[in-house]
Amino acid sequence: MKIIVVQGPNLNMLHKRDASHYGNFTLDTIHSLISETYPDIEFTFFQSNMEGELLEVIQRADEEYDGLIINPGAYTHTSIAILDALELCSIPKIEVHLSNIHKRESFRQHSITAKACDAQISGGKENSYLAAVHMLTLMTKTK
Ligand code: DQA
Repeated sequence: MKIIVVQGPNLNMLHKRDASHYGNFTLDTIHSLISETYPDIEFTFFQSNMEGELLEVIQRADEEYDGLIINPGAYTHTSIAILDALELCSIPKIEVHLSNIHKRESFRQHSITAKACDAQISGGKENSYLAAVHMLTLMTKTK
């Protein structure tokens, strides 16, 4: 099984962000945790601060991968372009957030992009990603 994990803007700066929302893991240590927890799955990790680069990766994802996990960062709340790209992507897709966006400022409580995903996992800090991988394994088994 091949999964792509797509990380949006500012997630490369987790080491400097508010740990009470995002936890104490850096992006690299989150990626190591995912790979170590699921050694039989082949992961590709991609992070960009640029919307266009995220779009190009999402547009091609169903040619190569069995599932997609995305944390669109702040684009969650603004990007119709990412929503449209996700809608074109025909593999199972899970939106992930480190923080519980529903407990935060009102502008973070609405996700534009979740509408194109099969599920959203929010608030588990680094464990949100582990839960998303687990969910993808279950979803692809029952396909
Ligand atoms: C986030 C939540 C977003 O509101 C924020 O802009 C982020 C991270 C999260 O993982 O909790 O950059 O997606």
